[in-house]
Amino acid sequence: MVDEAAIKAAQEKYGILLRKQLERVERLKNEPDWTDYSKLDKLIIGVCGGDGIGPYICASAQKVMEFLLADKIKAGKVEIRQIDGLTIERRAEVLKAIPDDTLEELKKCHVILKGPTTTPAKGDPWPNIESANVAMRKELDLFANVRPVSVPELGIDWVFYRENTEGSYALGSDGFFVTDDLAMDYCVATRQGTERIIRAGFEHARKTGKNYVSIIVKANIIKTTDGLFVDLADEIGKEYPEVKHDVWFIDITTAKLIDPARRADFKVFVLPNLYGDIITDEAAQIQGGVGTAGSANIGKKYAMFEAIHGSAPRMVTEGRAQYADPCSMIKAVAMMMEHIGETEKAHKLNMALDVCVQFEKKLVMTGRDTGATGDEFAQYIMDTMQRPDLEAVWQGYIDKAKAKAAQ
Ligand code: IPM
Ligand code: MG
Repeated sequence: MVDEAAIKAAQEKYGILLRKQLERVERLKNEPDWTDYSKLDKLIIGVCGGDGIGPYICASAQKVMEFLLADKIKAGKVEIRQIDGLTIERRAEVLKAIPDDTLEELKKCHVILKGPTTTPAKGDPWPNIESANVAMRKELDLFANVRPVSVPELGIDWVFYRENTEGSYALGSDGFFVTDDLAMDYCVATRQGTERIIRAGFEHARKTGKNYVSIIVKANIIKTTDGLFVDLADEIGKEYPEVKHDVWFIDITTAKLIDPARRADFKVFVLPNLYGDIITDEAAQIQGGVGTAGSANIGKKYAMFEAIHGSAPRMVTEGRAQYADPCSMIKAVAMMMEHIGETEKAHKLNMALDVCVQFEKKLVMTGRDTGATGDEFAQYIMDTMQRPDLEAVWQGYIDKAKAKAAQ
C-alpha cells in the first residue's frame, strides 16, 4: 500500500522548498554591483579562527596578512577585526550554523579570513546543524569558489571555478525521509546562479589569456541541472569567441587529472558545487596535499578566504595543532590580496609560497614535531618575501621546473 498521507506531507515540505528557491531567484535577478575596493575609505577585514586547528593556522596566516598590510593598517586604511562565535560549541549552543550576532558582525566586514570549521556529520556528538561554511557561502552569497592549483614541474596551472551556493549543497540539510524506507535529497540549479559562475570562469580565461574552459558535469545522468550548465556554457561561450570550451564528465575528469599525457592541457574548470568539492581535493593532492591549497569564496558584495580542508580535530586532541600546515590559509591570504586589488603583494606572497613550499624547502611541515611549527613556517615565508632577490630566485626555479616539465 502506498502511503498517501506521507506523499501529501512530503508535497507540502517540497512546496516550501520550492517557494524559498523561487524567492531566491527573484533576489538573484536584483544582485548588487561588485564592491569597488579602491573606493572604500577603510577596508574592514574580519578574521574568524574556526575550530580544531583553525585558530592555529589562521593566527599564522593573520601574521602574514598583517605584515603585508602593515602600512595600510597604520594609516587607518585597513582595519582587522577579530570575530568570535564561529566555534562548534557556540553554534551547537544556539543551534545555528552561524549565530545571529556573529553573522551581523561578519556582514559589517568587506572581506573575511576564516579558519576551517567543524561540520557536524551523522554519528557525531554535535547536533545536526548546517555546515558553517555552507551557511556563510549562502548568507553572503559567495557564489564563486575559486581554487587554484599549480605544479610548475608538471606543467600544471589549473583554476577551479566551483559553483558555491547551489547544486547538491543548496538543500543539503533539507532532504527528508518521505517514509522510513524512502530518503530524498535535492539538487538545485538556477539560470542566474549557473550563468554567473560560468561567466566568472570565462572572464578569468579571457583576462589571463588562458582562453580555455572545461565544463565538468555528469549531464548524461543528472540531465536537468547539469544539462543547464552545458546549455548555458554554449550560450555564454558565444560572447567569448577567443575562449575555447569543452564539456567533460566528472568521472573521466578525475582520471584525466592524474594522466600525465593530458592533464597539463586543462586550464580553467567550471563545475557544480559537489563535483567541485570532490575534485579540488584531488587536484590539491597533486600539488602536495590539501594543506597547500587556498580557496576564495567570492560574491559581488562580500568575499571570504579560507583553507580548502577541514578542522582536523584529531591534531588538537593529539597535542600537535601547532604543527598544522598554515600554507592553505596563507595561500588564501594571497588570494585576498589579489581580490582587494593588492596585486603586487599577492604576487610577492605567491612567489614566496612557491619558493618555500615547492622549491627551496628550508623548512618542512610534517604535521608533527619532526617538522616546523605553523608559526615558524609563516616566519620563513615572511623572511622570504623580504629577500631582495626574490623575483630572480623564483624565476630561476620556475624556469628550471618548466624545462623539466617540457622534457
Ligand atoms: C570545502 C569543504 C566544505 C565543503 C565542508 C567543510 C562543508 O569540504 O570547502 O571543500 O564541502 O564545501
Ligand atoms: Mg571539500
